[in-house]
Parts: sequence; C-alpha cells; structure tokens
Amino acid sequence: MTFENLFGISAQVSVQAPGRVNLMGEHTDYNNGLVLPTILSQKTTVQLAIDPSADGEIDAFSENYQERIQRHLSIPLVGHWTDYILACLQQLNQRQIPIPSLKIFVRSTIPIGAGVSSSAALEVAVLKAMRDLLKLELSDVEIALMAQQAESEGVGMPCGVMDQMVSSLGQSNHAFFLDTQDLSFEHIRLPKNYHFAVVHSGKTHTLVDSGYKKRRQECEAAAALLNLSSLRDACLLEIEQTATLPDTLRQRVLHVVSENQRVLDSVAALKDNRMAEFGQLMNASHLSQKEQFEVTIKATDALWQAAIQSGAIGARQTGGGFGGAIVALVPGNVVPGWWNYVSNMCPEARALNSPQI
Ligand code: GLA
Repeated sequence: MTFENLFGISAQVSVQAPGRVNLMGEHTDYNNGLVLPTILSQKTTVQLAIDPSADGEIDAFSENYQERIQRHLSIPLVGHWTDYILACLQQLNQRQIPIPSLKIFVRSTIPIGAGVSSSAALEVAVLKAMRDLLKLELSDVEIALMAQQAESEGVGMPCGVMDQMVSSLGQSNHAFFLDTQDLSFEHIRLPKNYHFAVVHSGKTHTLVDSGYKKRRQECEAAAALLNLSSLRDACLLEIEQTATLPDTLRQRVLHVVSENQRVLDSVAALKDNRMAEFGQLMNASHLSQKEQFEVTIKATDALWQAAIQSGAIGARQTGGGFGGAIVALVPGNVVPGWWNYVSNMCPEARALNSPQI
C-alpha cells in the first residue's frame, strides 16, 4: 500500500524519525537530570498532504495497525494511535498555526511497548513533517519540546524530554549526552569494536497505565521533603540527614542521585574507551533500577542475567521499565555466539538490532 494508492493524491512531504535506546540515565530526565541515549536504525515514516476537498478533517492511515480513520482536531482524544498525531497538531494549533485538512500515512519499524520510544518517534516525525509542509520556523529542539508536551498534555503520559530530544537530534553511531536541565547536549562517538545489543523481553509495557506516573510523583514528593525544586540538586549527605524522608522515597532518591553520577562516569569512560568500566556502570544501573527504583520485572532481570552470563561486559534495562527491553554491551569477538546463548536461556526474547558489528 502506498500513499498515492490509498488517498488518490501524492504525498507532499515524507519525514522519518528514529526510535532510541537509552544507554545510561533512567528516570533522571523528569528530575532535571542527565541521560545518555542513542538512536536505533528502526524508524517511523510520516507522509503528509493537504487535502483541499475535506473540511478540517484529519484522514490518517497506519500501515502497522492496518487502519484508516478520520478525525477532527476538536474531538477529544480517545486512547487510540491517532491521539499522538492529534496531540501534535493541537500543539501547533495552540501556537496559532492553522491546521489544514490532511491526509497522513504512517509506517513504522519500531516495536511498540518495547521501551524504545515508538511514540516519541511518531510525534517527532509528525511535527517535522508539518514543519516541512507549512514551512514553519521551528528548530529541532523546539520540535522535541512540542512533542514532549503533546505526549504529556495530550496523551497523558507525564514523560521527560529524553526520548523526543534524541529522536529529533540524535546521530547514528553516537551517544547523545543530554543535560535535561538546560538542554545542552554533546554527540559522543560509540566504539566500533563493541555492539550495544537491544533485546526485547517480550513483555510489553503501557507507560500511561504503569507505575511510571507513580515514580514521578514519588520523586516530586521526595524533592519537596528535601526542600529542593528537583532531585537534580539532591546530594547524598542531605538524604542521609533528612530523617523525615520515608524509606521508599529515600531509595528512589538514591537511585536518581547515583544514576546521574553514572551518566557522568559513563561519558568519561566512553570518551577514554574504557568499555569494561562502562559495562560495570550498566550493571550498577540495572541493580539500582531493580532494587532502589523498583521498575524492573522478572523477565528483564532474567534477560539481564542471561546477557552477562553469555559474555556481555554489562547490561541494563532500558526505558521507562515495567517491561520492555534491555541493552547489553557485547565485545565484537563475543557477538557471533552471544545471541544464541541468550535466546536459548530466554526463548521469549527478541533481538531488536542486528547482532553483527
Ligand atoms: C520513558 C520516558 C522518558 C524517560 C524514561 C525513563 O521512556 O518517556 O522521558 O523518563 O521513560 O528514563
């Protein structure tokens, strides 16, 4: 099926945006913290054309869902894949940009619910396609911020800004070191002789309904008890000395503070090609997500263990958690047999990027 076959007119613009895997810094972005994701080769493509014959209608087709649906911008969102599109268009509308009637074709190779940002890629692709279509003066950072607002205000998932920033600005074969407090970033080349294998546990998540919201609320409650505007400013001494901090919240803060430090340490390790150390930091991050932040599940813990037993020098759950994927750092000489071992131990697991270097 092509745009032209389906709608009977040609697409005016076609834009792609990638999924992402986070290498370090989980649940730090909504605490104004540090993150180190990179982009995947899987992408979402959005094709658009203005349809002068329709009256304010958004006519959208998803190749993945094999569904075509017509909606109006003013109709409230309903828990559907088109919500992401409408939420983006509404962001433009709120900025006094009139939205014409549109034909929209969506095709994606990013798995949904695997913790690799299929939703951010869709939002970024829609907004960049609209930028091209309407010749809007929007920077890639502005696109990312609007995409994040679409997801949090429109779709109701109170995410941070990591996914949209890396999908909008990330470069292949480079980690994207982002400070979410001031949005400064740096592209850091990934080493050629190692593979960051991304493996889906087979258990999908739905972040809107999962514990993600609860974790975010816990972080905000902890920051308030510590008299801080965000956990970015928390330090270990203060945490030890604040007796009023309930133990669960103390554990959450310990994760965020140590995870921010792990991002700094892993950036330094990456720049110096100290990959064994990078791997150890990944393992520490997984354990902190499991024990202190409590966002891992049995399937991702088992996969983490299998990844290391099979020769990865480090691994960790990646993304929002409560299911989804892990990322494992596999040396080039281990790659050929590695996936065989892992898939034998975890038959439900699915490799999301090629294990070849
Ligand atoms: C999801 C959110 C991100 C981030 C991660 C956890 O992917 O969309 O903003 O909070 O979870 O690090």
